[in-house]
Amino acid sequence: MSEKRTTDFGYEQVAVEEKASRVANVFHSVAARYDLMNDLMSGGVHRLWKRFTIELAAVRPGQTILDIAGGTGDLSYAFAKKVGPDGLVVLADINESMLNVGRDRLTDRGIAGNLQYAQADAQYLPFPDNTFDCITIAFGLRNVTDKDLALRSMLRVLKPGGRLLVLEFSKPQNPLLEKAYDTYSFKLLPFMGKVVANDADSYRYLAESIRMHPDQETLKGMMDAAGFVNTEYHNMTGGVVALHKGIKP
Ligand SMILES: C[S@@+](CC[C@H](N)C(=O)[O-])C[C@H]1O[C@@H](n2cnc3c(N)ncnc32)[C@H](O)[C@@H]1O
Repeated sequence: MSEKRTTDFGYEQVAVEEKASRVANVFHSVAARYDLMNDLMSGGVHRLWKRFTIELAAVRPGQTILDIAGGTGDLSYAFAKKVGPDGLVVLADINESMLNVGRDRLTDRGIAGNLQYAQADAQYLPFPDNTFDCITIAFGLRNVTDKDLALRSMLRVLKPGGRLLVLEFSKPQNPLLEKAYDTYSFKLLPFMGKVVANDADSYRYLAESIRMHPDQETLKGMMDAAGFVNTEYHNMTGGVVALHKGIKP
């Protein structure tokens, strides 16, 4: 009898084929309140983490950028302004609800012409080899079933010399901070999720998925193994979040 392959969905073990639909349910459920919750949960600090990501991306006019797992489009918005009329930003996400919120929001902010939307899975990017100057994935990689496959897919569609930036929750470097962060994540987050979005389960998944995500050094090793070079990372907020960068040789 063959054994079923399993993977993590937060702290739960689920069949590999089941994870994507479980993750999809989370993001269908949180899409409408996603931006509000982001600001509430991080006290607005996610804006600073994203600002640093935008700086390190060093996007220039005329470039072609992929913001995968782009969700409601914070990074895409900034990149669309930077690439200008001769460049292109593709906001891609696997989830239709998140993509719809993102599209409405960026259209309302007057971004059009140099921004395209694609419903796509980070593991199987539907773009030709060597297409993008820069790829970002912000708070998305931990939700992907096969992260190594996704990293290889991103490498394939980057141009040689192009850069990947992975912004993701990581491991706090100080034990005291880690303890406070644990209390916050497992007590306060689901409570806020319940009160504001009537959805404690999704926010419990959020906390658990953060703990299951590879730490700084492990993710760096995965990027090296996928074929990226000059990989490095920067801790932010004491390692609560890390920004990894790698280059396609
Ligand atoms: C926490 S949100 C991040 C959104 C946005 N990047 C931000 O930083 O605000 C995670 C996003 O990852 C998307 N996602 C999950 N699995 C994915 C996959 N396999 N491929 C592409 N996007 C995925 C979800 O639909 C969701 O929109």
